Amino acid sequence: MTESRPRHYIDGHEISGGRLVEMIDRAEQLKAGRPLEGGSALAGKSVAMLFEKPSTRTRISFEVGTAELGGHPVVLRGSEMQLSRGESVEDTARVLSRFVAAIVIRSGSHENVVSLAEHASVPVINALTPLFHPCQALADLQTLKQRFGGLDGLKVAYVGDGNNVARSLAVAGSLTGVEVVVAAPSGYQLEGDVPALLTDDPIAAVEGADAIYGDVWVSMGDEETAEQRRADLAPYRIDGHLLSHARRETIVMHCLPAHPGEEITADVLYGDRSAVWDQAENRLHAQKALLEYLLAP
Ligand code: CP
Ligand code: NVA
Repeated sequence: MTESRPRHYIDGHEISGGRLVEMIDRAEQLKAGRPLEGGSALAGKSVAMLFEKPSTRTRISFEVGTAELGGHPVVLRGSEMQLSRGESVEDTARVLSRFVAAIVIRSGSHENVVSLAEHASVPVINALTPLFHPCQALADLQTLKQRFGGLDGLKVAYVGDGNNVARSLAVAGSLTGVEVVVAAPSGYQLEGDVPALLTDDPIAAVEGADAIYGDVWVSMGDEETAEQRRADLAPYRIDGHLLSHARRETIVMHCLPAHPGEEITADVLYGDRSAVWDQAENRLHAQKALLEYLLAP
């Protein structure tokens, strides 16, 4: 008898577009049912949450979501683990799998997350690496569906640094019929086989877009080049001028944390076209639906 492999969520390609749409619908149900009908998918189960980098939204939403599904979150910081003293990722995966029903990990090494998944016998969820942020993309899809009623045929213009958030948005969009355009300057554009339209022209990108999407210019791990990044990315700020080239119905998204005045102006971030706060809330609902799906028998 062959042992079945756990479902993982690492680069976003593991879940089909149809399933993503079902998960978003489930996330909406979970949202509507709060706080009383949390579901019990994690009753009697624990979820390890290993954060090697800072987090506000991802960590708290996974912790709260696990509790709301009846489970027990075990939050771990990298520095507290024997990993920080040289225990291998492979052995960490083997041991955690004996204790918990799923592992959520935020790491500075995408390769380590892939290796953790290869050696774990429970689902592993990527809570951000330098390459991908698939959980963010789930909440992004939920936000788009809330605002526009559906996903197929929408256009999202991501403006700024071609980073992990942009890459995962492109993957999730390509699976669900959302066209993603990434506007970034030379040297900051997404590389490799990315399912997005790439341009260096932010104004052309936002024309006809349903949503304009921004992220920080200095991601975790990019601190050494912060000043250069701020200079190079300045023409890609999301401000009233950029919005004037979009439709009146176009919404603004940002994964947060934001730096008002840097990659997005305060009037746009806090203005009436901003969907940013719903987007942040949706992290909770979307990840609860993800946990249910990954742990379903
Ligand atoms: N958007 C996001 O992942 O935020 P955190 O870094 O606070 O988790
Ligand atoms: N691109 C950012 C996202 C933070 C949620 C980073 O990796 O730091």
